[in-house]
Amino acid sequence: MGKIKIDLFSDTNTEPTPGMRRAMCEAAVGNEVAGEDPTVNLLLEKVCALLDKEAAVFLPSGTMCNGIAFRVLCERPGDLIILDQTAHPLKQSAGLIAGLAHAQPYPIDGENGIFSVQQIEPIIAAPHNYNHARARVVSIEQTTNFGGGAIWPLQTIEEVCQLAHRYEVRTHLDGARLFNAVVETGISAARYAQYFDSVWVDFSKSLGAPIGAVLAGSQAFIDAAWYYKFQQGGGLHQAGMLAAGCLYGLEHHLQKLPEVHAHAKQLAKRLSQLSFITLNPDDVQTNIVIFTVNHDCLSAFEIQQRLLEKGIRALAIDQNRLRMMVHLDISITDIQTVFTAMRDIGKDDANTR
Ligand SMILES: Cc1ncc(COP(=O)(O)O)c(C=O)c1O
Repeated sequence: MGKIKIDLFSDTNTEPTPGMRRAMCEAAVGNEVAGEDPTVNLLLEKVCALLDKEAAVFLPSGTMCNGIAFRVLCERPGDLIILDQTAHPLKQSAGLIAGLAHAQPYPIDGENGIFSVQQIEPIIAAPHNYNHARARVVSIEQTTNFGGGAIWPLQTIEEVCQLAHRYEVRTHLDGARLFNAVVETGISAARYAQYFDSVWVDFSKSLGAPIGAVLAGSQAFIDAAWYYKFQQGGGLHQAGMLAAGCLYGLEHHLQKLPEVHAHAKQLAKRLSQLSFITLNPDDVQTNIVIFTVNHDCLSAFEIQQRLLEKGIRALAIDQNRLRMMVHLDISITDIQTVFTAMRDIGKDDANTR
């Protein structure tokens, strides 16, 4: 594989900027596990205010946030976690629902990662007896990753969460890309978070920090989360250097997300003009572009390989679909380069549709 010049594989593949690196180097630090790291504490305060939650904990990754939240929210081994069939904890997290939370996923066939209250009501409202595992958590992803960056409408969230709470089922918000939804809709993070017992936000995706996520909820929830943070080796000591990168992302990169989304929409518009691609550009709401390939000779995997040969990395989800994630390090010139590369790849084989 040659050098990757344009990396659309994931928005986690950003490089910390010189300003972010400086902020990290200069951070005030203390012992995080003793609650004595001033920069971590400042980050937690800011996130609690942003999400309007009582307490929060700093964790190295989103996967750990999901795993710990599910572990705390579930009561008995075998409890059900309802989530979309494309959800990250199901597709990409090395079996964490079973392995860490000792629970089982109940996957829902949503649209672009979004399901409706009607789809989950029969599971949640089912009378349960000793034969049946009990629904314990409903988890949603804002925005949806493998649903193509789609934004859950506030009303759907409200309906789903109100139903869950009526049946004493807990609600969890995987906010890996919550900030993308916030800048796109103008709806605050707190308004989204109000319906959830647990919520986390990520700094290493849209905000460009190298590491860092914050899980938030009630004080009792976070007290319980600390136990599993320790158990999983997530006690971090002088973590202020990492938290400083997260704070820098909040202060300097959040405002750049509208431009990132504009680039993704531009990419979608250009790609939709190619005859071997099926893509409705109006479906692209944030930074993720997923499209279907209808090429007579090339599968999505082969196109992924051809792109790599041109120094461009994308993700073939399956035989027919490719995902491109736009982020802070992708310029409008890169978007043009990707379009030209795709056009040339399509033409190389004369048999395009
Ligand atoms: C929706 C979603 N949840 C969770 C994660 C896991 O985050 P991390 O890579 O920080 O463990 C990801 C990663 O891309 C994600 O997209």
